[in-house]
Amino acid sequence: MASKAYKAWLQYERIEQVGIRNAYIKLLGNVVLPSEISEYSPALRELKDACRSMLGIEPLASERPSNPSYTKFGYATGSEREQLRDEGYRIHSVPTDAGTCLSLVAGGPSGLIYGVFHLLRLIGSQASLSDIDIREKPASELRMLNQWDNADGSIERGYAGQSIFYYNDQIASRLDRVRDYARLAASVGINGIAINNVNVHKAETAFITESLLPEVSRVADVFRSYGIRLFLSVNFAAPIQVGGLATADPLDPGVCQWWKQTAKTIYDFIPDFGGFLVKADSEHRPGPFTYGRDHADGANMLADALAPHRGIVIWRCFVYNCMQDWRDRSTDRARAAYDHFTPLDGKFKDNVILQIKNGPMDFQVREPVSPLFGAMTRTNQVMEFQVTQEYTGQQRHLCYLVPQWKEVLEFDTHAKGSGSLVKRVADGSLFGTKHSGYAAVSNIGDDDNWTGHTLAQANLYGYGRLIWNPDLSAERIADEWIRQTFGNEERVVSVISRMLMGSWRTYENYTAPLGVGWMVAPNHHYGPDVDGYEYSRWGTYHFADRDGIGVDRTTGTGTGYSAQYHAPNSAVYNDVTTCPDELLLFFHHVPYTHRLHSGLTVIQHIYDTHFEGAEQANGLLKQWSELEGLIDSARFGPVRERLREQAEHAKHWRDVINTYFYRKSGVPDEKGRTIY
Ligand code: GCU
Repeated sequence: MASKAYKAWLQYERIEQVGIRNAYIKLLGNVVLPSEISEYSPALRELKDACRSMLGIEPLASERPSNPSYTKFGYATGSEREQLRDEGYRIHSVPTDAGTCLSLVAGGPSGLIYGVFHLLRLIGSQASLSDIDIREKPASELRMLNQWDNADGSIERGYAGQSIFYYNDQIASRLDRVRDYARLAASVGINGIAINNVNVHKAETAFITESLLPEVSRVADVFRSYGIRLFLSVNFAAPIQVGGLATADPLDPGVCQWWKQTAKTIYDFIPDFGGFLVKADSEHRPGPFTYGRDHADGANMLADALAPHRGIVIWRCFVYNCMQDWRDRSTDRARAAYDHFTPLDGKFKDNVILQIKNGPMDFQVREPVSPLFGAMTRTNQVMEFQVTQEYTGQQRHLCYLVPQWKEVLEFDTHAKGSGSLVKRVADGSLFGTKHSGYAAVSNIGDDDNWTGHTLAQANLYGYGRLIWNPDLSAERIADEWIRQTFGNEERVVSVISRMLMGSWRTYENYTAPLGVGWMVAPNHHYGPDVDGYEYSRWGTYHFADRDGIGVDRTTGTGTGYSAQYHAPNSAVYNDVTTCPDELLLFFHHVPYTHRLHSGLTVIQHIYDTHFEGAEQANGLLKQWSELEGLIDSARFGPVRERLREQAEHAKHWRDVINTYFYRKSGVPDEKGRTIY
């Protein structure tokens, strides 16, 4: 039987209070289905499984009501259908002569699945169903997960075991686990998944060939039944590597023809194939630059191949010089995506979407929002987040990232005056772009609890919920997740909620200060190493010396990056007196004695936040420990172990960072605490 850790937020715990249970039984004992909805559809199956587990009943499915009270499913018609579109739904209670009926009307099969999961969420949190009217539809079109899984079973930046998709260069023969992943994903509204790493190696390059497509299509079948379309990351050099051509030049007619034929073959196997995800000319991946072509040439060629099948190309903007000379101060990695892509605005085909990381660098604990959001008005764009905690503690530390993402989505780009929020760029409404949405690097593996740290499940859940409705608050999402995962005991809910909500700030406190980023050990990115990336080729510098620290990205004396933002953001960031404290060192090089808006000097801020961060990490352990006995020991114990490690490790971060800056600056801590 699946463990509680495995069930994640789909626990479907039995409802013990008889009165509440009976009220649900009354409504759900009979489910009325129109003929076009099968009793065996995934939505119905989920409902039945959940009812068995929560209510101890097997709902009777029938075409006509057989009880006075019942739940009725249906598809919307007319204007309601138009309003709900495929993925929306309405759940409402309707009084009838003899009792009550609960109606779930969906725009289409996906909407039905989402509606059922919503209903189950309501039941799980023991909400009343007697007087409700809920209408929901997703804020944006594409809601994707990106698996960075490799065919050999490893996962790039994966912290929860091996891949659930691949084993030994083959697609897993049993896909039960993939099915459960699809359920989890669908339950929070995910509708697309790229199942292989953006760094496409030899084995995965062949996924688009006739010999492996039958295997890939088995995975597509599983996801399809939950309303999730399958995408593949492709290798731009595939025409050479698997096609036997001499070139991958996007303007070569033979190459175009090869991709067209390949697309056709893919759609023969997977009729609803989503399209390609492409990392090109980035970190040594092949791309159009080799042939003197630009990204639009590359993306458009693939787009032409997919267009007859309604497929799309998702082209990543994570393009920068990763062979930089650390002595060269004029090259600024933060500028790169904007510099590469804004000149191409308007040149991409309709079915090309640019995928842009939330910040200009690389998923650091704190970065400004990428200035590309708001810079391209004629290009489809999706926002890329990283749910896997590469730079944020690798699921050994608790770091609930929804508050960070929320801040990104609420950022005002001022692209069309005030109110031009990032979430309106990402949902396509600001510029009226055809395609829009979100993608995120997933954080799951084959660990029993999916995410290594059980509390890291909240990030996967939170990602889906937030992009479904970016107006939800991080607290509300945390609350939902906790109740479904651990039950409704108020003490449990309030303690875990506090832990989650403070954890991003805590992590920031004991790691790299004031937006400067990095300071992690090279390659694996776990743990402190202040100069680990300082004299390297990756363009990730802090420039700390005995007098000061930070990267001058201003227009006057620096790299000019600040000018990539619209006014007034450009001016706010450019001016050391108005730049927000938390991003100060991202934009400015300042002396250690520079005074922040908070009133502290930079050096004192570094000391204070690091002492505080280590304390707070210890606090997380204490808070969790209070819950002993209130949470099953199978989940309680391992989480406590991780929090213990975090508390210890936060001290290590504290001491490495404080000692480094004390020795560099020679400025003592005003409070005289121990710095080595
Ligand atoms: C980060 C990460 C890489 C990944 C890359 C990407 O740099 O460390 O492992 O390949 O992002 O997003 O492509």
